[in-house]
Amino acid sequence: MRLNSPHINLITKACIKASRSLIRDFGEIENLQVSTKAPGDFVTSADKRTEKILIEELQKSHPEYGIVTEESGFINKSNNKNKWIIDPIDGTMNFLNGIPQFAISVGYEEDNEIKCGVILNPITNEMYLAEKGSGAYLNNSRIRVSNKKSIKDSIIVTGGPKQNSKIKEKIFSEYINVSNNVSNVRKFGSAALDMAYVASGRFDGYWQRELNYWDIAAGIIIIKEAGGFVNFFEYDSNFPIKRNIIASNSNIHEELKDLINKKDIEK
Ligand code: IPD
Ligand code: CA
Ligand code: CA
Repeated sequence: MRLNSPHINLITKACIKASRSLIRDFGEIENLQVSTKAPGDFVTSADKRTEKILIEELQKSHPEYGIVTEESGFINKSNNKNKWIIDPIDGTMNFLNGIPQFAISVGYEEDNEIKCGVILNPITNEMYLAEKGSGAYLNNSRIRVSNKKSIKDSIIVTGGPKQNSKIKEKIFSEYINVSNNVSNVRKFGSAALDMAYVASGRFDGYWQRELNYWDIAAGIIIIKEAGGFVNFFEYDSNFPIKRNIIASNSNIHEELKDLINKKDIEK
């Protein structure tokens, strides 16, 4: 293989270790404890267990690094230079229903820029990884975004809205607008894998509102290193963890942006 820096090696190792217990949990879903954070937002004992393993592994080498996690919040918050961004299970709703479309997602950020990331679907054994300047990979093979030239021939993936979203109508009207202008829209229930699939050319583009940074941190570098474009829109600096994202191959990016009800698209 390909990517070999200490950071990517550390993330890969942590993800593989965490995936072992996650695979066991997936086989015993009916016995798992489940609680809810908000309507439609589930957290399982598997989320917590997976996150604990990831944190322990990553901290072995760098106990001083900041960690932004979905389930445990912020660790070493004062470290703004080096940060791990962790989503232990992206696609918990799928996981809970026995649908093997979920992933562990871990990104590494340095000086506010994502430098490398890993997205691992433990059930299909697909590991997507990328490091700045070194390309993006699916297991041992280099991946690239699709070469689709026109938005009308494109398959676009999206997600949401959450049950408690206050902008459901807006999201649905965007969905209608996009679906009227592309070949088809898909909704698979894991933002991390949606992004990994754009990076590997399975989907041509992706957009979604009301995400959290841990849903997409690893996906950002994986898509960029696969030759794609990533943009955030309507960014609110009061809620830096919240993101609205558009990502796609470079050919259709402007057209996709134009279809989204957008303001303030920024690089
Ligand atoms: C969710 C998934 C889903 C997206 C939601 C996320 P979770 O993450 O990425 O695809 O639509 O907005 O919250 O809760 O399964 O980690
Ligand atoms: Ca998530
Ligand atoms: Ca999660």
